[in-house]
Formats: sequence, structure tokens, C-alpha cells
Amino acid sequence: MSKRQIAYVCTDCGAEHNKWQGQCAACGAWNTLAEIVLKPARVSAGKHRSGYTGTAASAAGIHALTEIATYESPRTLTGIAELDRVLGGGLVQGSVVLVGGDPGIGKSTLLLQMLGALGERLPGLYVTGEESLAQVAARGRRLGLTMEPLQGLAETCVERILEQAIQSKPDALVVDSIQTLWTEQLTAAPGSVSQVRETAAQLTRFAKESGTCIFLVGHVTKEGGIAGPRVLEHMVDAVLYFEGDSGSRFRVLRAFKNRFGAVNELGVFAMGDTGLREVPNPSAIFLSSHTGPTSGSAIMVTREGTRPLLVEVQALVDASPLANPRRVSLGLEQNRLAMLLAVLHRHGGVGVYDQDVFINVVGGIRVQETAADLPVLLAVVSSLRDRPLKDKTIAFGEVGLSGEIRPVPNGEERLKEAASHGFVRAIVPRGNAPKKAHFGSLQVLAVDRLADALQVAL
Ligand code: TYD
Ligand code: MG
Repeated sequence: MSKRQIAYVCTDCGAEHNKWQGQCAACGAWNTLAEIVLKPARVSAGKHRSGYTGTAASAAGIHALTEIATYESPRTLTGIAELDRVLGGGLVQGSVVLVGGDPGIGKSTLLLQMLGALGERLPGLYVTGEESLAQVAARGRRLGLTMEPLQGLAETCVERILEQAIQSKPDALVVDSIQTLWTEQLTAAPGSVSQVRETAAQLTRFAKESGTCIFLVGHVTKEGGIAGPRVLEHMVDAVLYFEGDSGSRFRVLRAFKNRFGAVNELGVFAMGDTGLREVPNPSAIFLSSHTGPTSGSAIMVTREGTRPLLVEVQALVDASPLANPRRVSLGLEQNRLAMLLAVLHRHGGVGVYDQDVFINVVGGIRVQETAADLPVLLAVVSSLRDRPLKDKTIAFGEVGLSGEIRPVPNGEERLKEAASHGFVRAIVPRGNAPKKAHFGSLQVLAVDRLADALQVAL
């Protein structure tokens, strides 16, 4: 019986197709199909010393879910609290975590520090395909890690890595990076879609069968996704992104997907000369340090994950010489900016169609929630008119297409955070405003429509 050996995977959405075509039928992206070789691969992981036999269902037949015994996956705290928070409360046995981020952001440093912090409790193996073992060891010494329980392996062939791992039975395995790995079963180059997919599949299977926690380092593409197919993100249990401004020493680790915890949870670190240090109380670090009110700047309270953060949004609006003025946004979605500017024109009466608009979220952090809508527009209008917002003012709120200001979750918590940092005025959606006009020392200005918001802010 002949079996299909080749398939085509969309590198954007991970959809699989039988034959090549120019456009992915699932997500509509052009030129994203890459050939992969389908070949069953079996690697026996052997029993782990913990006796763990994996979580994957193997009992055949249909069962009533109520009869299935459930168990809390035991968690091991890594000892790095910000990392534990992003993981949803520590490491889960047999889980596979993908850590993505720009080169030089600190992925290798963080994972080496994690293995060092786990120490004797969960002996770790650091597999490097990018640096030599000497470099890894030198970094470990410089970071002041307890090196005794740590083992290293410089290897890129996944079969040999698994062979070694089966023998040395680490509890935590770091693979740096998945793009350097290759399997003997395929002839494609390392880093290609089929290699990334197949090596990740073998490592995932090993993690499930042996109970080892595996961390995969993944490079990101220019667009900010993890290089290789989206299928990688589907395969693993958690996807963490390391973000930050190369000019700033602060780094933010964000859970993008997590089968064992909340997504969008943030962990904040500062890169220093002894590696990454946790920033347990990060609220005010995403504010730029100008002294008085400045035009084109608005401060918002974002609540990504379970913790409110004060973040400054800056806008620069300038007359454009171009027929198609530029809309550039760093840290915010580009399409959302275009939409907000249309709402601003239609419902706020402020047109910027002949202006270049640049938006930047201070500190290299990426804000994904809609609560940023109102502060973005306030910053835009403030820059356009060259008039600063009132001093010590924060704002948050979603802007709807008909110009209404919609409430966002956890309003009270955001107000509390702003009050505790000495802000005196808050422009918020009516639905988020407390009954009284004051919230502690904070004067709360509730707004229903964009036009009202512009009026009270400027
Ligand atoms: P690295 O972990 O190698 O980044 P990645 O694996 O994501 O590519 O981090 C490298 C950067 O971190 C490099 O620019 C130097 C800086 N760094 C420090 O500032 N202090 C330190 O103690 C270490 C280990 C690195
Ligand atoms: Mg690295």
C-alpha cells in the first residue's frame, strides 16, 4: 500500500495541503506553502526514573469523562518568580515550552539561569547548537550559577540528543535552538520547515513519554513570528515570547499560549552584567522620564495577564510630503491604528489624512489589549495640536467604530494602580467609572464618546 509521503504546510497558519498551490486555502496567505516530508518516526524514550509514563491518552475506547481520574499536574517552581508566573505557577512535568525572541534579547541567558536555579531539584541538560560548550560554561560562571548539577551537550542531530538524554535522564532539557536541529530521517537543511517540525515532534514525544520538561529556543522572523511553521506553536504546551527594546535593559516575557496557565501573563526582567534580574514591581518602568507635561504623550494602565502596568504611549504627528502618509506603530497593531484614525476623523472631528502618524509604546513592550485605544488617540491629538495632556492624567478605554468609549475589564484595579503612583486624574469609559467622582486621590472623568474624551483631556 503506498502512502502519501509529502505534504505542504502553510508557514503562516500551519494548515496542511496535499498539493502545492500559490495561496494557502486556509488562511489566504500567498507563497507560504513549504514542502514537508511525512515519515513516521518512533523514538523509544524508555521509562523515566520518576516512573512517569506520559500524559498522552493510550487507553483505547470511549470513556465517560466523569469516570476518568484526573490529577493536578505537579508543579516545580523554578526559583525565578517572574518565570514561574508566566509559566502559570512553575514547571509541569512532561511539558514542552517554546521560547521565542529576537537575537540577543536574552533567551539563552534566561534558560541557563533557570537550569542553574533548578539546580539539584531538577538536574538539567543544556543542549547547544549555536554556541560551543566552552561559551556556555563561561557564561554560566559569569552568571555565578551553581554549576555542579548542570550538564551540557553540543549536538544538533536530534537522534543523538535523544540517545544522550535517555542515558543521562535530565529532568529539564533546554534545546538552543530548534532551528539548528536536524533529523537523520530527512535530507532538508536544518531550519527548514520539515526539519523544524520533525525534530520538534520527536522532542515533544520524548517529553511526553519520559516526563522531561523541555524548553525549545526559537528564532523569530522579521514579522515577529517564530521561524518555521505555526505547527510548532500547535505542538508545544506553551509559547513564551521575550520582548524588549534593544536600547533598554528591561525585558518582558509574555505567555502567548499556555495549556497550564493564563495567556498574556507578563514577567519583567532587567538585563545587567550578571544576567537577568527579576523586576517584581515593574509598574513605573514603562514611563519615559520627562519632567513636565509633553505633547504627544499619554499614560495608560494596561492589564496584561494578572497585573496592571503603567505604560506610556507616544505619538508623533507631522505634515506628510507623501501622497500616502505613513502610519507606523511600534508595540501596537498597525491595522488597529488605521481603524482608530478613521474613528478619530469621523467621530472626533480630527482629520490626519495629510499627516504622518508614528506611535511608540515606551520600553519596547507590546500592548495587545483594546484599552490602549483611547490613550493612543489622545496622544495623536495632543501631538497634532502640540498641546500636552493635563499633568498626572491617565486614560484607558476601548474605542468603538461608532465613536463610543467602551469599558474594559478590571477597571477598578487599573484605577487603584494609577492612584498608588500619584496620578490625580483618570479619563475612563463610563462603564468603568466608580459611582463617586473620586477614587482615593484620583479624580475620575467618565466619558461616553470620543469627542467628550478629547474635550476633557486637552
Ligand atoms: P543571549 O542570552 O545570548 O541572547 P539570545 O540567546 O536571545 O540570542 O543574550 C545576549 C545578550 O545579553 C548580549 O547582548 C549580552 C547581554 N548580556 C548581558 O548584558 N549580561 C549578561 O550577564 C549576559 C549573560 C548577557
Ligand atoms: Mg542564544
